Amino acid sequence: MSLFDKLDAVSLARETLLPEGLDIFGMSIEEVYSTTEAQVNGRRILFFGTNNYLGLTFAPECLEAAHKAIDTEGTGTTGSRMANGSYKGHRALEQEFADFYQRQSAIVFTTGYQANLAMISGLTGAGDVILIDGDSHASIYDGCRLSGAEIIRFRHNDMVDMEKRLRRLGEKTKSTLIIAEGIYSMLGDKAPLNEIISIKNAHNSTLLLDEAHSLGVLGKTGQGLVEETGLIDGVDFITGTFSKSLGNIGGYCVSNHPQLDQLRYVSRPYIFTASPSPVTVAATRAALKLLCNGVELRKQLWINARQLYSRLSELGYQLGPEPGPIIATILDSPQQALMLWKGLFDHGIYVNLILPPAAPDGKSLVRCSVSAAHTSEQIDYVSSIFAQLRKIIV
Ligand SMILES: Cc1ncc(COP(=O)(O)O)c(C=O)c1O
Repeated sequence: MSLFDKLDAVSLARETLLPEGLDIFGMSIEEVYSTTEAQVNGRRILFFGTNNYLGLTFAPECLEAAHKAIDTEGTGTTGSRMANGSYKGHRALEQEFADFYQRQSAIVFTTGYQANLAMISGLTGAGDVILIDGDSHASIYDGCRLSGAEIIRFRHNDMVDMEKRLRRLGEKTKSTLIIAEGIYSMLGDKAPLNEIISIKNAHNSTLLLDEAHSLGVLGKTGQGLVEETGLIDGVDFITGTFSKSLGNIGGYCVSNHPQLDQLRYVSRPYIFTASPSPVTVAATRAALKLLCNGVELRKQLWINARQLYSRLSELGYQLGPEPGPIIATILDSPQQALMLWKGLFDHGIYVNLILPPAAPDGKSLVRCSVSAAHTSEQIDYVSSIFAQLRKIIV
């Protein structure tokens, strides 16, 4: 067997599943017209799959900060912070994240993916245990692999299963890291944070919560599930990303733990990669201010999310368990999901297609993401196309 034989299976899957002439996983965004509209593969489309929850990608404050940074600091840092030093913007953004969450310290990473890799592999190693929800994002799984720790999965949001698995660990619960997500990326539902914290406290374990999809979305100032529930003190480490509500790229971790800073010296995804560019940092700092004061944006986001969720639910689509900015339509087969995705695209709507094994439980998903920038007319239009397609998706 050669190195390349396994790629034959990928070619075969692409040939059999994907419609001729349409590479769904390699679409070209040729021109961006606005936060919600673009030209994709020669067609004018509505973005309904990007995670631009607060619609900040064209916020004038962010554009102005980005222009200023590129003029004064250039296009990139061309090195890692460990080897080449931190720009004052990196330090300032870390302080602003720490202040935002009222935690002692923060670390900024080059992507949200790396934030999880760095934190998980920095906190745990051989001999430790990581207990994760079965629906965890790939960055959490990859962080676990990089750590060398024992990985145990519990059924999605099933606290009985989680507690049972933790109890079996005996003394090892003290060296166990539990990981959950504020809003899960696959089905858009929230973690039962209160119960998770009670269980982890009872067993002296440590909790990391990924607020990638809940930052800017939940809580009065947009901190995420920790703010909505008032349970921030029960969470040991919070990670998240700039690539969703903040409209940029990068990641962070905040914590009150006195050892957080030491992780910079042991986390390979922090040490061995170039630091976020000045443009990214400057625009993210501006976006964080808008997010924190974005009560009206959050209100609009939730109006839009509830509107789309209730329309699709009335049409009889099987959806994730609760309304939110991620609205996943659950289909029984990849063919059905593909048909729905293609039907939407043919009507100028671009959403996410998620096929097994990326989707949980062997299901296939057509996932919409809602933004505060979507108009009521755009949501009406998307709902009407879902209604038309309902006839062929049985
Ligand atoms: C739950 C979760 N964590 C982390 C990430 C990684 O973030 P990024 O894409 O900004 O690297 C994602 C990305 O989709 C995510 O859904």
